[in-house]
Amino acid sequence: MSAGWTEVYDALAPTYDEMTAGNGWSANGRARDLLVPLGLAPARVLDLGAGTGQTAVVLRDLFPAAALTLVDPSARMLERARDKVPAVETVVADAESFLRAADEEWDLVAAIGFLELVADLFEVVRLAASRLAPGGHLVVSHEPLLDDGSVQSSPVSVVSGSQLVRRHPRAELERRAASYGLVRVAATEAVAFERGGDGSGATYEVVVWRLPPGGG
Ligand SMILES: C[S@@+](CC[C@H](N)C(=O)[O-])C[C@H]1O[C@@H](n2cnc3c(N)ncnc32)[C@H](O)[C@@H]1O
Repeated sequence: MSAGWTEVYDALAPTYDEMTAGNGWSANGRARDLLVPLGLAPARVLDLGAGTGQTAVVLRDLFPAAALTLVDPSARMLERARDKVPAVETVVADAESFLRAADEEWDLVAAIGFLELVADLFEVVRLAASRLAPGGHLVVSHEPLLDDGSVQSSPVSVVSGSQLVRRHPRAELERRAASYGLVRVAATEAVAFERGGDGSGATYEVVVWRLPPGGG
């Protein structure tokens, strides 16, 4: 569960947007760049780990007519999102619990900026895939496990107490996604922000998968 991270993000909420404007957090711009050429027109969009609404701003801009649902365990982060993005439904919940309880389907699900914080990234991706409408898309970012001797070569980093960052190889995520019926349609990679301390960046992969109409 994400209790440790929820406290962190509740505390960060007032300054999160200013902080990310200064540290080069680019995953939402990258996701936009991947989604635009696909020419999607989703009626229902789900934004998991919505935070202060930076992902939702992009989604609302790209899909102004879509019904947009924002999910995040940090009530304080979501408060900021509600101020920023008009006409959204907000739900205070972690992604896994929300998806397990959900019985509706979405045409587009976004999971940007939090999959490295969850205990089981694969389970969140599996559940998200299971709630996609036929032909629907899933866009995620994650921090892949690297082999470059950096902190990102470690599968788990303890940030503090119960706040862990978990990383998985790109190929393993892709193998699991394929087993959930997902087909990769676009991907990119970026150094999304500067780490504290040594000034090195964190590499993020942003991926879009499609659930073929026949279910894969
Ligand atoms: C780095 S922010 C990303 C927010 C937004 N998507 C963006 O790109 O700015 C991470 C967010 O994930 C949320 N989060 C942490 N654990 C989560 C979980 N298990 N399920 C869903 N969201 C989670 C945090 O509360 C925080 O708002």
